[in-house]
Amino acid sequence: MAQLIDGKAIAAKVMAEVAEGSAALVSEFGEEARPNMTLIVVGSDPVSKRLVELKAKDCEKTGITPTVIALSESTSEEKLLRMIERLNADEDVKAILCQLPVPEHISTKKLLAAIAPDKDVDGFSARIDSDDYDIAACTPAAVMRMLKESGVEVAGKHCVVVGRSNIVGKPMAIQLLLNDATVTVCHSKTADLAEHTKRADVLIVAVGRPRFVTGDMVKEGAVVIDVGMNYIDGKPVGDVDFESVEPKAAMITPVPGGVGPMTRAGLLVNALKLAERKVK
Ligand code: GUN
Repeated sequence: MAQLIDGKAIAAKVMAEVAEGSAALVSEFGEEARPNMTLIVVGSDPVSKRLVELKAKDCEKTGITPTVIALSESTSEEKLLRMIERLNADEDVKAILCQLPVPEHISTKKLLAAIAPDKDVDGFSARIDSDDYDIAACTPAAVMRMLKESGVEVAGKHCVVVGRSNIVGKPMAIQLLLNDATVTVCHSKTADLAEHTKRADVLIVAVGRPRFVTGDMVKEGAVVIDVGMNYIDGKPVGDVDFESVEPKAAMITPVPGGVGPMTRAGLLVNALKLAERKVK
């Protein structure tokens, strides 16, 4: 039986730390030092709208002032970029997030490049060559924290990341490297995927395909982190086939209740850091 890594419990701990940090900042430097976050959502996708609402609520719970800007589906790229320029220039705005995906007529690349790195609360502009990996991409940072809280030391271990997205796979590999892991990154074109996954001490899966990794692809005693969130018949299902993988793993994250709650907590950690940088 694998030990379950409880993302909800760890997220609660992280949120309590952020709330304490916000309160300390305000008590030391005054109300204008309070962390804040401007959340932009473009279009009417109900999942995106709901996620932004949840993120704003998390902000409120941790002493971070949220501002939600909801724009219509037909908002032009130019208008959105101009708005971001204004927010970049606004001294009172400390953190900016634009919920993805955006409508197809807007370039995600241009949009993310437009957000000033010192306000990029998602940590998407963190670069391996920037020395500034303090504001790290939230989901990989969440995974690192979960490993740490579970007593898993990645230094010297073989960590295999399945998936190479800009939001998870690539920054995940970088964060593992920065923590002295030996890293293999697999993706849709990888030949003999199972040969790689079977060698993982720590296996991190972020491919967006339900129950993609099965028990026969996992080494006995591995730590398995499931970043996936898919829905089958309205029920949340991860990228890992929990039933066949769990008996082989030493530790595993459940879906739901694993990485999901931690990802949103990572955003709050970044918002606090950005606000601290303004005064410290
Ligand atoms: N959409 C899905 N995940 C994310 C995320 O981490 N950040 C933003 N901005 N949008 C998302």
